[in-house]
Amino acid sequence: MPWRALPGQVADPYAVWLSEIMLQQTTVTTVMPYYERFLKCYPTVQVLAAAPQQEVLALWAGLGYYSRARNLHACAQKLAQLGGFPSDVEGLQALPGIGAYTARAIAAIAFGVPVVPVDGNVERITSRLHAIEEPLPAARRQLDRLATLLNDDPQAREAPSDFAQALFDLGAGLCTPRRPSCLMCPWRATCKAYATGAPQRFPVRRRARQSRNDMVSSL
Ligand code: ADE
Repeated sequence: MPWRALPGQVADPYAVWLSEIMLQQTTVTTVMPYYERFLKCYPTVQVLAAAPQQEVLALWAGLGYYSRARNLHACAQKLAQLGGFPSDVEGLQALPGIGAYTARAIAAIAFGVPVVPVDGNVERITSRLHAIEEPLPAARRQLDRLATLLNDDPQAREAPSDFAQALFDLGAGLCTPRRPSCLMCPWRATCKAYATGAPQRFPVRRRARQSRNDMVSSL
């Protein structure tokens, strides 16, 4: 993935931020050409800040969730004022369009802060490791707390960027929603969901209310 730094290189916070905003509600495959186009058109945050909003929105066309593009532009202007990116979670989260997940992702990937970004993939991994029976969405607070402990290991804390992105890859490639590939998972031995024999049952979701039609047909 083009936004990832090569071994030994440091990540460009601008590229990491841009990729994380684009990846918020959109798949890696869809994001790729937009990401390349944006970096070509706006190679630095200063260039993006100086661009007309209409032009930025036009370049975003097709990616959807246009508030992301408006916030991206507003955030670039704020960053240009500040003279660069804050390097801690709190500073990042105070910026337009950057919530708890994105602030942690940028802090870990671009600045090596040992925090765990919790998206849907990381929630799923966590719910399986601990076989959390409480259904979503009520379980979310507990999952967030347990997920922040996933990097509680010296090797993980030494490489926050690798650890965060390895979690995304684990969720996208092995610990998938319907048919997880547990035999290839490095966490199989300690995964409580694997031990139950039905890991795909996690995260548990609150049962949808029975619809009127179901009720009638089950009479
Ligand atoms: N989804 C969000 N951020 C990502 C990243 N850095 N790599 C892969 N998938 C992601």
